[in-house]
Amino acid sequence: MERIVKVGIVGCGGIANGKHLPSLKKLKEVQMVAFCDIKPDRAEKAKKEYGTEDARVYTDYKEMMEKEKEIEVIHVCTPNSSHSEITCCALYAGKHVLCEKPMAKTTEQAEAMLKAAKESGKKLTIGYQNRFRSDSLYLKAACEANELGEIYFAKAHAVRRRAVPTWGVFLDEEAQGGGPLIDIGTHALDLTLWMMDNYKPKSVKGSVYRKLADQKNTGNAWGDWDAEKYTVEDSAFGFITMENGATIILESSWALNTLDVKEAKTTLCGTLGGADMDDGLRINNIKHGKQNVEIPNLESGGVAFYEGEEINSDDMEAQSWIDAVIHDKEPLVKPEQAIVVTKILEAIYKSAETGETIYF
Ligand SMILES: NC(=O)c1ccc[n+]([C@@H]2O[C@H](COP(=O)([O-])OP(=O)(O)OC[C@H]3O[C@@H](n4cnc5c(N)ncnc54)[C@H](O)[C@@H]3O)[C@@H](O)[C@H]2O)c1
Repeated sequence: MERIVKVGIVGCGGIANGKHLPSLKKLKEVQMVAFCDIKPDRAEKAKKEYGTEDARVYTDYKEMMEKEKEIEVIHVCTPNSSHSEITCCALYAGKHVLCEKPMAKTTEQAEAMLKAAKESGKKLTIGYQNRFRSDSLYLKAACEANELGEIYFAKAHAVRRRAVPTWGVFLDEEAQGGGPLIDIGTHALDLTLWMMDNYKPKSVKGSVYRKLADQKNTGNAWGDWDAEKYTVEDSAFGFITMENGATIILESSWALNTLDVKEAKTTLCGTLGGADMDDGLRINNIKHGKQNVEIPNLESGGVAFYEGEEINSDDMEAQSWIDAVIHDKEPLVKPEQAIVVTKILEAIYKSAETGETIYF
């Protein structure tokens, strides 16, 4: 008989409906059997659209973990402040967990998650779906083949000109732990560290700004934001040095007066070559004594994990994760890696607040 993985969803808002539910629905090995949201109508709606006929609906995730003995996998899709408590509860209830990014609001909370994963022996992964893009997978393969040599300088890009998310609790410091840095800077930094395969930061100097949040007629992609509710930064920048001497510059904004916008992208400079994702993936090197640029054809079949048909990164994340659960493999995004992202982001906020360089 085919192996079926029963999945429960906690948090049935934007990212659940935009990524998790449609991607899980495509997997024949998955049944979504329980939905939890503090707003019951959202859980009901998700159940109707994506759940099994007899799927259950909850407003309390603890009750869900207690009652749903058959659920193997929980997806945590709630605001950042609750990632840690819900993930720990699910792990200790014996479930594998995919938690949305960032891993947690603070390093302390992320450490509790790591501890819970170790103590329970269950799998934990974080929703960094940008790793599953075909350009990311190709670049990762190039890095693993040492085509760039030693990567000693990198930039992590998460820059929007005017795209402040105005729904949910994105502007609320308490619920999210910050603005663009923790929201989208997290993706760019995850990609960069993963490509460099370097998880040993030495120091961080950060600057955090709230310069545009009080302006009116904002030209924002999702309509004007409410300045009174805007308790997070609108841009943040970090200068990160690594133990091996490498440097990373992280730039993040939801609103910044610039035309140089790029998000969830990395620029890498190594001893043998470099790479950027500015206008599609480009790898630069020296060939036969001449400056050379390679532009891979990423449409040509599967890369890395799945041969053949190309699928989008959201679907690939879900497929790779459920595959790791079924075949007892390590997920691609490891919590030990995600916690380093959280540590660096927290240090950027701390450095900006104190004016000091933070040493790890
Ligand atoms: N991977 C990505 O690219 C990506 C994109 C967007 C958001 N996210 C992440 O997803 C998370 C949620 O963001 P969103 O845009 O879906 O927000 P959202 O506000 O649209 O949805 C969150 C949902 O969680 C519910 N909720 C809040 N606390 C809860 C609790 N204790 N128990 C059960 N339900 C609860 C809310 O009622 C809401 O329906 C955030 O951590 C965010 O960083 C990731």
